[in-house]
Amino acid sequence: PANGGGNGSAGAAKKKKMNGYVGFSNYPNQQHRRSIKRGFNFTLMVVGESGLGKSTLINTLFESRVYPVKDGEDSSTPRNGAQVASPTGVDITSVSADIVENGVKLRLSVVDTPGFGDSVNNDEAWRPILENIESRFDAYLAQENRVNRSKIVDNRVNVLLYFIKPTGHGLRAMDIEFMKHLHTRVNLVPVIARADTLTPREVEQFKAKILADINFHGIHIFKPVSDHFDDPETISDNKAIAGKIPFAVVGSEQYVVRSDGTRVRGRQYPWGVIEVENENHNDFVALRQMLLRTHMEELRDQTDVSLYESYRTQKLLALGHVQNNSVFREFNPRRQQEEEERLHAAKMHKLEAEMSAVFKQKVHEKEGKLKQSEEELHSRHQTMKLTLEKQRRDLEEKKSRFTQSDSPQVAAAAAAANAANASFVDPAQR
Ligand code: GTP
Repeated sequence: PANGGGNGSAGAAKKKKMNGYVGFSNYPNQQHRRSIKRGFNFTLMVVGESGLGKSTLINTLFESRVYPVKDGEDSSTPRNGAQVASPTGVDITSVSADIVENGVKLRLSVVDTPGFGDSVNNDEAWRPILENIESRFDAYLAQENRVNRSKIVDNRVNVLLYFIKPTGHGLRAMDIEFMKHLHTRVNLVPVIARADTLTPREVEQFKAKILADINFHGIHIFKPVSDHFDDPETISDNKAIAGKIPFAVVGSEQYVVRSDGTRVRGRQYPWGVIEVENENHNDFVALRQMLLRTHMEELRDQTDVSLYESYRTQKLLALGHVQNNSVFREFNPRRQQEEEERLHAAKMHKLEAEMSAVFKQKVHEKEGKLKQSEEELHSRHQTMKLTLEKQRRDLEEKKSRFTQSDSPQVAAAAAAANAANASFVDPAQR
């Protein structure tokens, strides 16, 4: 037994060394192969005012033109992809792209929220975004409740990059409202947009102010954790990434030539070059590391086991107050199962009753037939008995007639009649 032997804390599973190869250690490889075959889904949402460099950063992150940059076009023009209009002036658009790297397929969906923060009154700007995230949870929940769950489409948002305007003055009321409403529904990753417009010192001070505001308002943001790792390298990498949050990023679709002649993504200024992938210039590399290289699975996992599960529980509990509502029945798997079991039991009971009735009918019919053939047999027996009785009487009569004469022939006939009489056995006694 795992916790047998009496020495060791009760209930704690002990590490056991195995004597031979069983094979389950191959599970990660199987999972890996399966994931490579199927590909991954990853949904990233970007939120921030117009012109903060959202599209540029996405295209820089994925090294491809996932997202069309508008290059001076009217920011109210909708981009390609699905679009949901909203009365708050915030629209939700999404584009998907299949990206393949070293044979691994990534189905990337980028959800943009044009119009966010661009109105005079942005008090309700968070609402359509929250509703969109929750509607994706609802769609997933509805699929989970289906009988056939083999083809679940997962459009849940795995991470939300919140672009903070590089003002240097801490979070604005609109930023705080947004984060407070969204932090329990999505993995929030705050980024300082267009960080090249601030000096390194300003960036440090701005980060400190943002973190202080986040702490003060009890906002939960996504952070790589170090406590559940044994490997010192992973721990220090995670600490380094976590220490850069909120990431101060620079994006660029342009390449610049450095003094050594190499071409790098960057932004050219009269006074020099800002390199996107230079860790001394900005936090782009750390953000990419976390999102795509080390914490993509963690983000997907958090979405599923933490954010979605808590939404689902709250939704079911809220619906539980209106038990007669058909929506509740639809969304309560336990109740649905109980209902199905009750219907099944009733069906079985009905089937059993029908079978019993048929059986009784058959037995009745068989009994009738048996009784009829018994009666037929009895009447045949009676007829035969009467016939034989009659024959006996005839023979008796003949016998008496013959015995009245003395001739030897008569004596012989009388003897024969006696013998026949003696050999007669009543069929009823047979
Ligand atoms: P909307 O599409 O209007 O929501 O804007 P957006 O946030 O997607 O910004 P977009 O990527 O279209 O960039 C707007 C402008 O900012 C473009 O001219 C970009 O070249 C420029 N830009 C993007 N990233 C940066 C950056 O990191 N630093 C600077 N200085 N400019 C940037």
